[in-house]
Amino acid sequence: MAVGTVLVTGGTGYIGSFTALVLLQNDYNVVIVDNLYNSSKVAVDRIELICGRRPAFYEVDVTDEAGLDKVFAENPEIDSVIHFAALKAVGESGEIPLEYYRVNVGGSIALLRSMARHNVSNIVFSSSATVYGDATRFPNMIPIPEHCPVGPTNTYGRTKTMIETVITDHIEAQRNNNKKAGKPYEQWNGALLRYFNPCGSHPSGVMGEDPQGVPFNLLPLLGQVATGQREKLLVYGDDYPSRDGTAIRDYIHVLDLADGHIAALKYLREHKPGVRAWNLGSGRGSTVFEMIKAFSHVVGRDLKYEVVERRQGDVLDLTANPALANKELGWETKLTLEDACADLWRWVDNNPKGYRQDPPAALLEAVKANKA
Ligand SMILES: NC(=O)c1ccc[n+]([C@@H]2O[C@H](COP(=O)([O-])OP(=O)(O)OC[C@H]3O[C@@H](n4cnc5c(N)ncnc54)[C@H](O)[C@@H]3O)[C@@H](O)[C@H]2O)c1
Repeated sequence: MAVGTVLVTGGTGYIGSFTALVLLQNDYNVVIVDNLYNSSKVAVDRIELICGRRPAFYEVDVTDEAGLDKVFAENPEIDSVIHFAALKAVGESGEIPLEYYRVNVGGSIALLRSMARHNVSNIVFSSSATVYGDATRFPNMIPIPEHCPVGPTNTYGRTKTMIETVITDHIEAQRNNNKKAGKPYEQWNGALLRYFNPCGSHPSGVMGEDPQGVPFNLLPLLGQVATGQREKLLVYGDDYPSRDGTAIRDYIHVLDLADGHIAALKYLREHKPGVRAWNLGSGRGSTVFEMIKAFSHVVGRDLKYEVVERRQGDVLDLTANPALANKELGWETKLTLEDACADLWRWVDNNPKGYRQDPPAALLEAVKANKA
């Protein structure tokens, strides 16, 4: 018996596909909606390959309210949504802001409207540590707690902050309106999950991040340097007031992050708290140079990099204080940065073309043997 059915928007993407996998492994049923803008349908096959269960898949754009209505109508058992679908490139968001507001904010509004029409009342939202902006502008806010005031420094972060507000207003209104009308209201809940820096791949080496264009995150870029697809890594600034001059981030293994979604969903269903924000991070900050060193170590050779100017909108330190999620959700990271580096390398080394190739036979055999 399934414990629930979850609609996962953006579910063929990087974090969405891992969350879909972990949901299935925890006996949820999964329905994926994705327009494949930055992902491949092959992710659905890999999920099934690893866990033996296949999520339903709909190629639908999250801004298409009628399309979403159809998905909910065809799957009346959906009781919760985990919402990943978004555009996420910080630099690009400053160049085409209207597209970012249309897809990220407009898509979230379309989703919430369609959910309300179908009485789907729990939403877990992919927010980001980016909402905090430069937390060093306040004293004692590193590592960053949830009560740190938000102050995004780029368009992408502003879309995330805005969606958090839209979800909060909407869920509160649903609760208040139902309460006034003497109807049950506690079923309306939202989790705003502020991710720090997701990284890593599945340890099997058959599932990982497969962006359609140029990757934007440090580890996938390093992966491309290691496989020779990229000549060198550009390090944006070595004049930050950190231990080695490079910016500090909190790297979290994507499987730990996926677990955090299951914990948040469970909390919403059991505690019915209204809207809550939780940081999902490890609490450990690493500099860019430390990451280059850790990844070079698993690859077994030094990877080439070049220091260039700081990037506009980048901040010194985004390290999470994950105490609230540790306490309330009973969740904490289990995997290390070294695990993430080793898993990522196994993925890119064996699948340099991502999902546009089959994984090596030995890895496939090992996955099948593991499942049997
Ligand atoms: N990766 C990170 O570093 C990071 C950090 C914090 C927050 N997030 C957020 O987590 C979520 C998932 O990120 P990811 O790294 O897995 O990115 P991703 O690009 O791999 O996944 C996003 C998915 O959404 C889909 N999508 C985009 N526009 C869509 C639309 N209009 N309709 C339907 N589907 C659409 C894409 O095809 C993709 O599969 C995003 O909301 C992102 O902003 C990511």
